[in-house]
Amino acid sequence: MQLIHSINEMRSLVRELRSRGTTIGFVPTMGYWHEGHLALMREAKNKTGFVVASIFVNPLQFGVGEDYEEYPRDLERDTALAEKSGVDAVFAPSVKEMYPQAYSTFVEVEKLTDKLCGKSRPGHFRGVTTVVTKLFNIVQPDIAFFGQKDAQQVIVLQKMVTDLNMNLKIEIVPTVREPDGLAMSSRNSYLSPEERKAALVLYHSLSAAKKMIDSGERNIEAIKEEMRLLINREPLARIDYVEILSVPDLEEPESLKGKTLIAVAVFIGRTRLIDNMVVEV
Ligand code: PAJ
Repeated sequence: MQLIHSINEMRSLVRELRSRGTTIGFVPTMGYWHEGHLALMREAKNKTGFVVASIFVNPLQFGVGEDYEEYPRDLERDTALAEKSGVDAVFAPSVKEMYPQAYSTFVEVEKLTDKLCGKSRPGHFRGVTTVVTKLFNIVQPDIAFFGQKDAQQVIVLQKMVTDLNMNLKIEIVPTVREPDGLAMSSRNSYLSPEERKAALVLYHSLSAAKKMIDSGERNIEAIKEEMRLLINREPLARIDYVEILSVPDLEEPESLKGKTLIAVAVFIGRTRLIDNMVVEV
């Protein structure tokens, strides 16, 4: 496993791989890996000849007052996990390497980023699409792997790749959960034991919605109301959003039909968690 910090070094490795005809699988991350991240790497290993995972806590995607400073970081632990998960190279650039002084170019996907997390976190997706474009240009992957856990992120990135004719494929990997259903997230490490229990309301509200749809409920407002009731019963939880939107255009459907995203964002204490389920109606 190679640990690479500089863009030049990453580029020369990519040149060598390309000249040998090796396919490159890429897993962009912000580090502090858990089983969700590792599932992406294993999938990349299955589908491509050489797996690059990046670790970069991207300041551009954090808003003022968000957790950029506290975001958990442990490069040593991550690189040890990389060895075991089939990762061939870890690319971990510094902020200065990615955004040298006077950096001034940004990538923005419109419309899709006005909803859900884009609405609650203005500028977040501009940061994501900018850094992912830069990483794609550096790593030049054949396939890039993203988690369903961040449903809007993967929809926005797919749109960016299509609109900008980027020469790669995006693959989506299902959400990996703890045994009790909580979606794995680096931010779960912020939760106290009581908050960890309270955090289950995200999964419970999504499961309740899915159950209602499975048993024939088609009234979107009724489903959302049931989800809100369930979440509000938990004293440590504060709803950011509860949404039911069409996939992949993220519009509010007039009636429930086709591929549908049920998505929630909830503050548990000071920690903002997101989760989602996609149902085919
Ligand atoms: P990060 O939150 O570290 O997530 C990296 C990748 O892991 C994303 O594709 C995310 O969807 C996936 N992931 C996280 N938790 C998961 C889970 N429980 N199950 C399956 N996949 C999971 O997402 C980012 O970083 C950043 O925005 C990034 C794309 C790296 C750009 O900075």
